[in-house]
Amino acid sequence: MCGIVAYLGNRDAYSIIIKGLKRLEYRGYDSAGIVLFDNKKTLLLKTKGKVEDLKSKYEGISFNSGIGMGHTRWATHGVPNDVNSHPHASNSEELFIVHNGIIENYNELKIMLTSNGFTFKSDTDSEVLINFIEFIKNKHQLTLSDSIRYALNEVVGAYSIVVIDKNNPQKIIVAKSGSPMALGIGKNEFFVASDVSPFLEYTKDAIYLEDGEMAEISLEKGIDVRKIKDNNKVDLVIQQITFDLEQIAKGGYDHFMLKEIHEQPKSIKDTLRGRLLVNKQIIRMAGIFEHEEKFLSAKRIIIIACGTSWHSGLVGEYLIEEFARIPVEVEYASEFRYRNPIINKGDVVIAISQSGETADTLAALKMAKEQGAFIYGICNVVGSSIARITDAGSYTHAGPEIGVASTKAFTTQITLLTLIALELGRGNGNLSKSDFNKFCIELEMIPSLVQKVIDSCIEKVIEIAKEFKDSKNFLYLGRGYNFPIALEGALKLKEISYIHAEGYPAAEMKHGPIALIDENMPVVVIVNKQRHHEKIVSNIQEIKARKGKVIAIINEGDEAVKAMADYVIELPNTSEQLSPILNTIPLQFLAYFIATYI
Ligand code: M6R
Repeated sequence: MCGIVAYLGNRDAYSIIIKGLKRLEYRGYDSAGIVLFDNKKTLLLKTKGKVEDLKSKYEGISFNSGIGMGHTRWATHGVPNDVNSHPHASNSEELFIVHNGIIENYNELKIMLTSNGFTFKSDTDSEVLINFIEFIKNKHQLTLSDSIRYALNEVVGAYSIVVIDKNNPQKIIVAKSGSPMALGIGKNEFFVASDVSPFLEYTKDAIYLEDGEMAEISLEKGIDVRKIKDNNKVDLVIQQITFDLEQIAKGGYDHFMLKEIHEQPKSIKDTLRGRLLVNKQIIRMAGIFEHEEKFLSAKRIIIIACGTSWHSGLVGEYLIEEFARIPVEVEYASEFRYRNPIINKGDVVIAISQSGETADTLAALKMAKEQGAFIYGICNVVGSSIARITDAGSYTHAGPEIGVASTKAFTTQITLLTLIALELGRGNGNLSKSDFNKFCIELEMIPSLVQKVIDSCIEKVIEIAKEFKDSKNFLYLGRGYNFPIALEGALKLKEISYIHAEGYPAAEMKHGPIALIDENMPVVVIVNKQRHHEKIVSNIQEIKARKGKVIAIINEGDEAVKAMADYVIELPNTSEQLSPILNTIPLQFLAYFIATYI
């Protein structure tokens, strides 16, 4: 996720863009940049850091311009630094681009462009795209719009882009597929932005570009929108904006946590993007591919993490051991670093961290590295400390997680661990080709199933939240792959609602915790489609025998549990191995709604 602002008109473009970028910092804030145009002169300003850093770095610079564009970045390709910051220029330094999204086939394009004499300053997919546009423009002698259209028809991935040609600084070209883009229409002026907040104070008239659309904007001709595919004209639908600035930053939701729960179909899709290639029946992950032998010959894999990331590590353990039959240990980083653990050369250590900055995880990782382990990072923040010290790694493409409670980071971590486990299982032959393909097909469906869960469970969860908001304690139970999800559900409730909650493997209940169950104890039981279904059914009977209140997360049509539970939340069917992601969603909502009803 990144933020884009562009302006064309008679005001000072710089101050409009800077102010707009600040409003978009919730979309990303690791680097920022602006390019301004005046006749054939350009001024390109870029820096690592926040928009405020950009402003202070270039304090005092003056450049009279009514056209320009800016970007606040959340890195996906290339660490946050000055060079990787947007805007990017083509090799001729005539075309400029800002881009939000991920170009999946950038590497193939880069190889082709390099063999045609193009060079690259940054590590970004966006610089590849602007050079690809330039390549097409020169080769086929096309207009800029036609070149962009031609290029975008060859591109695989998600994008919203703005392109300006320094030789024609009266025109802005905007295109969108999979990432948001809004156009603002003022009196003799136009705005472009990732959401409407940058131009709300100037105009309330907006056009939301749809996927597959491209707009050419000029003062002379106004806005012309066409389909990228066939250049067919699109009728303009101008909407009146009615919401306020704060609502926009939170995507219209009351809190960032709620917004981030809702973002999960997209963040999981982004994490799979370019990696899960179901048609080719392969998983393509550079970090794993280049070091696969180390993983496959490892005597064991040690996963280290804290909190929610540790829970995703537990799911990873189940997945890797089942699919690839490689032994896995999951350690709290805070314990691991202080307890003099045995680390052998040839061990693979995977650190999982949303922020990439958690001190215990970082220290544990350094220790493992010093003792000769190969260290691999699963982080969300590109260029973070953990990402920098690891030998290799993969990023979850969750976008900035602003809510304190980890939600989309957790489900994208599990998504990545599933990809890794499947690839290792394929690599060492423990997973048959047909099982590999079956799980890949199912995994590809997870984003739409998550959307289905979101759409179908909210009402029920709200009803449950209202009923149990005054409870003093909660128990969460799950077996197998869903034991870590029980832990995660309990952690979310503690963290957000300040209600005491414990997660247990369901069968452990009889070894003590059962004594706590009475009519005042809500017990959340994750039941769906597991091996030993009958065992968890008998756990529910034990709870009911003590008059506990059962809130069951079940698969559609699980009549046995429906008949016993006080409340059920029905989820679509998927394999047990892929069910943790789906089961997490209602538990995130439960913590959120209980917190908001208290
Ligand atoms: O950034 P990290 O993933 O390393 O953070 C680890 C934990 O602090 C974090 O997961 C914490 O448990 C969550 N905020 C819980 O929602």
